[in-house]
Amino acid sequence: MSPEALKELLSRKRSLIDRKLSEILPEREEPGGRVISAMRYSLFAGGKRLRPILCLLGAEACGGRGEDFLLFACGLECLHTYSLIHDDLPAMDDDDLRRGIPTCHRAFDEATAILAGDGLQALAFELFTHPDLLARTSPERLLRAIHLVARAAGIHGMVVGQMADLLAENRRVSEEELAYIHRHKTAALIAASVVSGGILAGGNEEALRALQRYGEALGLAFQIVDDILDVTGDERELGKPVGSDERRGKATYPALVGLSAARRRAEELVERAVAALSVLDEGADPLRALARYVLSRKN
Ligand code: IPE
Ligand code: IPE
Ligand code: MG
Ligand code: MG
Ligand code: MG
Repeated sequence: MSPEALKELLSRKRSLIDRKLSEILPEREEPGGRVISAMRYSLFAGGKRLRPILCLLGAEACGGRGEDFLLFACGLECLHTYSLIHDDLPAMDDDDLRRGIPTCHRAFDEATAILAGDGLQALAFELFTHPDLLARTSPERLLRAIHLVARAAGIHGMVVGQMADLLAENRRVSEEELAYIHRHKTAALIAASVVSGGILAGGNEEALRALQRYGEALGLAFQIVDDILDVTGDERELGKPVGSDERRGKATYPALVGLSAARRRAEELVERAVAALSVLDEGADPLRALARYVLSRKN
């Protein structure tokens, strides 16, 4: 698949997801409606929609129709956006810019941003368990996909990864510890996103194992590129502050091994991700192209 064809496909999927999300979360005039405004503020600020797109493409790589699982995919974006709102809080990375606009706690206030994150996390599970999904997949598949995502978002993935990331600030960490941080805070949810699509579409165990290996390698590459962009990126293009990691004394690959070794590592991981898909047919071509796009992304 050519880069142009991938670009077109990504923008088509992104509009599907955005349309569904705005249908799911309208503004509400009520005493607590401010939290909905804050959730919408962060959710609709932009974002690549990588995790929901991976879910749709994971389903398609297993012979399913991605759109059938749009509600589930939207849940993944809610979960991810919650993690970004909390990641930016003063108690965590203390950043002022996200998706090209002031962070949620800057535009609203800290209490509202905490609640907006909480609201998005709960909304994610409301969507994962949406009765309409049962017309498109079996209860067993749905339960397995939700279980996988819950593990990846919580104490087997993102939450412990974020904890380890904070505890590693201003300290020299080993490559093993850094790999732990990246695997948990970022790769776990990325892998669960693509595998959940495969599960919902009824992919066989061999296909699901391939998607898992793909997602883990892609997720690690994705975070290394994120760390590189924090050094070399352009704030306007990136939509978030440049130099934030250095300011916070974060453990990153560029800090540990230098920019060019970090770049080589990301390239190796992308090749590993593509190789993991060898058991899948051309239905997995968009996933192959997406892996390569991760290396060239500017935001
Ligand atoms: C940012 O994720 C957080 C990381 C795990 C590196 P994205 O780069 O996918 O952010 P959005 O969703 O496009 O804003
Ligand atoms: C965050 O990693 C990973 C999450 C789970 C949100 P970063 O802290 O590097 O993400 P950015 O650079 O703020 O998007
Ligand atoms: Mg962080
Ligand atoms: Mg951050
Ligand atoms: Mg970063």
